[in-house]
Amino acid sequence: MNELRICPSVLNADRSRLREEIERVANADLLHLDVMDNIFVPNFTFTLAESRTIIESSSLPVDVHLMIANPDEDAPLYAAAGAASVTFHYEASTDPLETLRAIKSEGSRAALAIKPGTPFSSIMPCVDEIDMLLVMTVEPGFGGQKFMVDQMEKLTEAATYFNSRPGSKPWLQVDGGISLATIATAARAGADTFVAGSAVYGAPNPADMVESLRNTARAAISLQ
Ligand code: DX5
Ligand code: ZN
Repeated sequence: MNELRICPSVLNADRSRLREEIERVANADLLHLDVMDNIFVPNFTFTLAESRTIIESSSLPVDVHLMIANPDEDAPLYAAAGAASVTFHYEASTDPLETLRAIKSEGSRAALAIKPGTPFSSIMPCVDEIDMLLVMTVEPGFGGQKFMVDQMEKLTEAATYFNSRPGSKPWLQVDGGISLATIATAARAGADTFVAGSAVYGAPNPADMVESLRNTARAAISLQ
């Protein structure tokens, strides 16, 4: 069976006690850190310096999701800061191939994200350089939005493509509106790496929710 990963997003966690919030999800696979610049998306979250502090103090490996304009220069800096993986948006980059290579040369996994309106075919020139593809299931910018089920076709297209070609298969991540009600749909469509913000931190026990999400995704693919 494919390995599955659950990545809680601290976007809507209590930022005044982030360290404790991270410790509440110690059974997760990666911590998802949403970096927003108020340009690429209408919201601002963490600076590079703040992200570095979080990365250095986190007990979990950190999966940085950059929602910033012009990521080509900055993305490798997050890798150098110690992120386990760095994801940037294809739509915002002028040289995605070079940026993917620069992230990897700093020792991190390199990933591309695509917004709901961006087709899978647009990233074709980059498929051999990515360690992960993030298919957004909401418009980036805010937590707590509704899962866009119409993105499942794109996810299946990507999964089918990667399964049918030789060589290593990048992880397929979904982000936005993932909960106990939607994770099975995303898993069946081909996702293996799941970001969940409000579902995890809105739960009475975030660690139990991480476990339930993982079990639900596992059950969905084992029944296929
Ligand atoms: C949205 C962010 C997400 C967000 C997900 O732009 O990329 O990572 O935290 O939050 P939920 O799970 O609440 O949709
Ligand atoms: Zn995200």
